[in-house]
Amino acid sequence: MMLRLLLILAVTSLIQAAPNERFVEETSPSNVYRVVEGPLTWNDAKAKCEAMDCKLAQPKSVQANDALKALLVKGYYWLGITDLNHEGRFTYYTDDQDIVYDNWNAGVPNNGNGTEHCANVILHSTFNYSTWFTSNCSEVNEGGICECRTSGASGDPHMRTFDGRAYTFQGICWYTLFKDCTDKSRFDVTIMFEPREDSTPDQVRTRTIAFNVTVGNQYAIVNGLDVTTGSTGGKMTDAKVITIQQEDKNIKLHFTSKNTTFSFNWTLRLHALDVSYNGSFYKGKLCGLMGNADGDTRNDFQNPDRSIAKDVLEFGESWKVNDKKCF
Ligand SMILES: *[C@@H]1O[C@H](CO)[C@@H](O)[C@H](O)[C@H]1NC(C)=O
Ligand SMILES: *[C@@H]1O[C@H](CO)[C@@H](O)[C@H](O)[C@H]1NC(C)=O
Ligand SMILES: *[C@@H]1O[C@H](CO)[C@@H](O)[C@H](O)[C@H]1NC(C)=O
Ligand SMILES: *[C@@H]1O[C@H](CO)[C@@H](O)[C@H](O)[C@H]1NC(C)=O
Ligand SMILES: *[C@@H]1O[C@H](CO)[C@@H](O)[C@H](O)[C@H]1NC(C)=O
Ligand SMILES: *[C@@H]1O[C@H](CO)[C@@H](O)[C@H](O)[C@H]1NC(C)=O
Ligand SMILES: *[C@@H]1O[C@H](CO)[C@@H](O)[C@H](O)[C@H]1NC(C)=O
Repeated sequence: MMLRLLLILAVTSLIQAAPNERFVEETSPSNVYRVVEGPLTWNDAKAKCEAMDCKLAQPKSVQANDALKALLVKGYYWLGITDLNHEGRFTYYTDDQDIVYDNWNAGVPNNGNGTEHCANVILHSTFNYSTWFTSNCSEVNEGGICECRTSGASGDPHMRTFDGRAYTFQGICWYTLFKDCTDKSRFDVTIMFEPREDSTPDQVRTRTIAFNVTVGNQYAIVNGLDVTTGSTGGKMTDAKVITIQQEDKNIKLHFTSKNTTFSFNWTLRLHALDVSYNGSFYKGKLCGLMGNADGDTRNDFQNPDRSIAKDVLEFGESWKVNDKKCF
């Protein structure tokens, strides 16, 4: 079943998506891996990842490293691990901490006579293979693997669309985070931003305090850590019910529509709402602040009438929900 899914994804991604737009999700912690295609040196790959507001990948668990296999690429891809700072001791390039997990091939790292300072992973989807090697950092690999935060709203709020486009938006009140934009809309997710205490009249800074998930005739409002559920009185659809789990200061919520499960991870302390999904039915069929999820970042800023917004402000404000009162 899993293999079948991978094959289906392999075929569709080869046909539809540009190679550097493929991504997979690591299960825990929730990161997204994206491929940047080369040929690229280690520095080129690092620069490409950083340009997307990501870093060169640093898989820290067997689950994370296994997730790379689902990228469905074949060849050598750079990782964010080097011994450039201390020969023979491999660390994460972002903080120079010793690596906590590795998947070195037998006999690696072997110093390469002092010439191989950058780690790469050989990925071969057909053989379900993700083993690490080292190379001369100036050599070119097939590409690199970037590690990005998951999509959603966090902090200021800093937004990230399903396709990975990052932006800052300081609207106040309720906005459509994303919704089913097909003719038969089955779900709708709105989010509320309020000004932070440190806002000034010149510079408003906001944060997320609530969101409202409506699926079929059921809704769930999460406000801080209070959850209210109810019925809209509208029609039932074939979308599946919302499930909610609360753990300490963290709320997880899921719902399914068609072959797609949407997962929310709300961390009140960080005012961060991460959203991810797995099936393919809704690719290109969503709209709202998180874009259309078609794998192309360039068309993410679409207004409700599908025109491309001229800037972030126009885009953000076009998704304001006018009939909703703020708390
Ligand atoms: C790939 O290997 C992992 C473990 O390394 C395993 O969990 C997974 O089922 C394998 N996938 C396929 C498609 O064989
Ligand atoms: C949810 O988010 C928190 C904080 O960002 C993170 O520590 C946790 O691993 C996330 N959980 C899942 C299942 O993604
Ligand atoms: C190191 O250099 C020696 C002599 O040139 C060569 O035989 C050996 O294969 C090299 N080792 C590696 C790991 O490249
Ligand atoms: C790495 O490769 C480059 C290009 O092939 C070469 O010029 C350089 O000398 C090599 N560096 C080391 C440390 O061997
Ligand atoms: C949440 O959504 C439901 C259904 O769309 C709506 O009836 C309700 O008023 C919303 N609540 C808030 C606080 O926005
Ligand atoms: C999506 O995730 C859900 C929940 O983890 C799972 O039951 C479902 O089979 C997954 N669907 C696909 C298409 O991977
Ligand atoms: C999900 O639905 C889409 C569109 O109907 C279909 O192309 C795709 O094969 C489905 N994927 C799975 C894993 O069922």
